[in-house]
Amino acid sequence: MWGGTNSKMGSHQFAMVLLSSLLVCQCLPTRAQADPKTTKNATLNVDASPATSRLIPDTLFGVFFEEINHAGSGGIWAELVSNRGFESGGSTAPSSIEPWSTIGDESTVIVYTELSSCFEQNKVALRMEVLCESTGANFCPTGGVGIYNPGFWGMNIEKQKTYKVVLYTRSLDSINVSVSLTSSNGQQTLATSNIVAAASEVSKWTKVEILLEAKETNPNSRLQLTTNRKGVIWFDQVSVMPLDTYKGHGFRPELVEMVADLKPRFIRFPGGCFVEGEWLRNAFRWKETVGPWEERPGHFGDVWNYWTDDGLGYFEFLQLAEDLGALPVWVFNNGISHNDEVDSSYVLPFVQEALESIEFARGDPDSKWGSVRAAMGHPEPFDLRYFAVGNEDCWKKNYRGNYLKFYSAIKRQYPDMQIISNCDGSAKALDHPADFYDFHVYTGASNLFSMTHKFDGTRSRTSGPKAFVSEYAVTGNDAGRGSLLAGLAEAAFLIGLENNSDVVHMVSYAPLFVNDNDRRWNPDAIVFNASQSYGTPSYWVQRFFTESSGATLLNTTTDNPSSIVASAIAWKDSENNNEYLRIKVVNFGVDTVNMTISINGLQKNTIKLFGSTKTVLTSTNLMDENSFREPKKVVPNQSLLENAADYMNVVLLPHSFTSFDLLMEPKSLLKMKPGHVYVSYI
Ligand code: AHR
Repeated sequence: MWGGTNSKMGSHQFAMVLLSSLLVCQCLPTRAQADPKTTKNATLNVDASPATSRLIPDTLFGVFFEEINHAGSGGIWAELVSNRGFESGGSTAPSSIEPWSTIGDESTVIVYTELSSCFEQNKVALRMEVLCESTGANFCPTGGVGIYNPGFWGMNIEKQKTYKVVLYTRSLDSINVSVSLTSSNGQQTLATSNIVAAASEVSKWTKVEILLEAKETNPNSRLQLTTNRKGVIWFDQVSVMPLDTYKGHGFRPELVEMVADLKPRFIRFPGGCFVEGEWLRNAFRWKETVGPWEERPGHFGDVWNYWTDDGLGYFEFLQLAEDLGALPVWVFNNGISHNDEVDSSYVLPFVQEALESIEFARGDPDSKWGSVRAAMGHPEPFDLRYFAVGNEDCWKKNYRGNYLKFYSAIKRQYPDMQIISNCDGSAKALDHPADFYDFHVYTGASNLFSMTHKFDGTRSRTSGPKAFVSEYAVTGNDAGRGSLLAGLAEAAFLIGLENNSDVVHMVSYAPLFVNDNDRRWNPDAIVFNASQSYGTPSYWVQRFFTESSGATLLNTTTDNPSSIVASAIAWKDSENNNEYLRIKVVNFGVDTVNMTISINGLQKNTIKLFGSTKTVLTSTNLMDENSFREPKKVVPNQSLLENAADYMNVVLLPHSFTSFDLLMEPKSLLKMKPGHVYVSYI
């Protein structure tokens, strides 16, 4: 939560710059100043009485994770080796081994791939023939010869951290191979160990595990496998994982913590277009992503154009959801890609795969697919309740036919499963059954701002499928690489969704992550490279909504609808039982707004001055962005709300998003159930 000036929001602290709003205003030279010509007045009425309040769905705010921009492979999945099984060049050999390279020239070492792996589903392995030796005329260069892997644009190796190296090797001779983490040019050794084995010990494929503790830090490191012993060595499935991962489950902690700080109630995965593929043959197929990681073939995601080893597979997504306390939303290929489609008469194998995927997640540990999950260390079922049939496919020839086959088969076997259709039910009723309809919007800032009222006119508010706004963002010139302008329009849109949360039950921004070295999509919420990360303004906007899921929505009205958008919630902090009334206001205009906020329906003197705060997201220029150099240029600033009361005058800075968090006397709020509060009658 963000009540109290010293409070934290999760593990990542908001920058708490205790500037008064006036002082901030004076620091904004390019911005309209608070003089009479550029100041407007407005009033906001908040009705805190139960008669006009209602509960917001527990699931309202979540996240959408797509394998895009190297978000997973080379992103939140902590594996440091890229192309660990040498499969990225395809299933024939010889093939490219990128990004692996050789250490030494052709006179000392010859490297190529062969189909000789012990893993049936991924037969490609690396053959390394060393021509030099430690003594004699043909001696090896200092440090030996071999291969290296630079990871995903450099491995971040940190002093005193331990890394687990696992590899498979084979040789007809005895071997002595140095396994080292080094700087990108190999000059600095951060950690090293040797595999020394007699020929008899490695004559068949042998698994080797080594723990390496780094003695220095280098964010641009690589893994080296080197030797100065003549002979032939085969390698396959070479992995380096830090021991320090999120809840020990293989995820990069600081990135997942940023997601955890959003308190997502669901996680939609693994795409997006990634699920569809340009061609069906390259789409994500869950069965090839479960079981021991060494046995996964990996695949080339042809929409975002990169190889993934599928270490982050279906199981890991379910595990991540569980670790985040979020419900998994499983997006499934329904026999349709961007360029090819399976006719509805032949789609049953896809339906069967879908049913089996649900059994994998929810089945008994002794069921066929539940046993695979149990063998992976999770005998208990995962809490899978949401299933999306395809992604953005409504307009395609076979969508309805395929959808209906999925719908009836899944509902027959899992009647409680909530099925999400790709067809937009906001404008007219769907012509097929669904629990949710998916709604995506990528547009300019003014348009998204005006879509604050998109769901106000929903015809049937009590029956029919609910909206799942699973992808939204300001894109194009307004967005840059993540601008304040984009964030503000998105804030207004989200407030509109919050106010319409009787018909909109789930919301997530897209895309969540971008590895700065592979920007396939702009903008994104969280930007990272091997060692750094920051949130864009769109990320910080989402932090204003972390308490909304399951809270109580209060009715608000304002007399300045053109540039002001507002909502109010009552919520209880389960950590300390504090109760808050949070009022969020976007000022999308160029003018400073003097706003009178009046809260009706409260008992007298129930708002506590000490502990009430104001948090503002704004910046000097509308197009300001965060960056690795200035990661906190546009972040929320929190200060004490010195005049907190049920009637107060506040200043809204031009182009700003403000949250007024009023700490309430405990007895002023009537408890309905944990986490939810209703404001009591006067
Ligand atoms: O979020 C990026 C892409 O935008 C998604 O893959 C797709 O669903 C949408 O078109």
